[in-house]
Amino acid sequence: MRDLTYDNITERIIQAYDGTEDARLKHLLTLLIGKLHEFAKEAELSQGEWLTAVEFLRRAGDISDAQRNEFILLSDLFGLSSLVDLIAGRQAADATEPSLLGPFHVDGTPERANGADLICGNDGARIVVGGGITSTDGGAVADARLEIWQNAANGRYVNEDPEQPTDNLRCTLRAGDDGRYCFSTVKPVPYRVPGDGPGGELVRAGGRDTWRPAHIHVRITAPGHRPLVTEIFDTTDPYLESDAVFGVRESLAVPFDRTPTDAELSRHPDIERPFNMVDVDFVLAPT
Ligand code: BEZ
Ligand code: FE
Repeated sequence: MRDLTYDNITERIIQAYDGTEDARLKHLLTLLIGKLHEFAKEAELSQGEWLTAVEFLRRAGDISDAQRNEFILLSDLFGLSSLVDLIAGRQAADATEPSLLGPFHVDGTPERANGADLICGNDGARIVVGGGITSTDGGAVADARLEIWQNAANGRYVNEDPEQPTDNLRCTLRAGDDGRYCFSTVKPVPYRVPGDGPGGELVRAGGRDTWRPAHIHVRITAPGHRPLVTEIFDTTDPYLESDAVFGVRESLAVPFDRTPTDAELSRHPDIERPFNMVDVDFVLAPT
């Protein structure tokens, strides 16, 4: 290919990948090459700027390891992860909106009985979170499993804080056959996403901040339904409008401060008073 020019390069490079056997991969590569070239041409990208970008990615690789993936953080900070969630949400209209998995999910957290108490000596305002899981088809979803994870009063998740007891503030719950679920916990707190790597450089260059509003992560799997990964936010959180990683959706922000009724107080005799109720229903899309 000796005759590459400014005008023919995009077409020629796409042709070079013509042998890609996987049809979906071929489609993705064709689009990606086209958009990358369009970007470079429109920006009149200089060699210095190209090198800066490549070095930025190298440093993202350097700071990543088995526990930390800076590329996911960059995807989050560019809103790409949220865009992918919104695309998934369009394919499951009427279901609960998906939102970021984040870096702290682990598979296989201990299974706890529905109604589990995760408070276990954690500081913070006590809350009882509960509601129903239904299908967009209508009716309760039976046999749903909810994985829950959140940060502690110091803003840290158990995965990044050896001082916390094993599996602090995370578990897997099996909802009832009527789709009802419930657990007690403490209010999560706002915290900063890691700012010591290229992600932090990007945030500072953009005049932004690394704060995320407080949230509880939920992943729900149930037979015959698409898995749902989402987050629950407190409507009063000061960072709802400026989430560093763009995970907030109007429908996912709920009050964290409903006063329990007498019946609810007597249903939870073991939870230290005072506590508040958080009502969250989830709707799953059938597969
Ligand atoms: C989180 O929810 O914990 C999170 C999400 C994206 C980037 C960093 C943290
Ligand atoms: Fe999180």
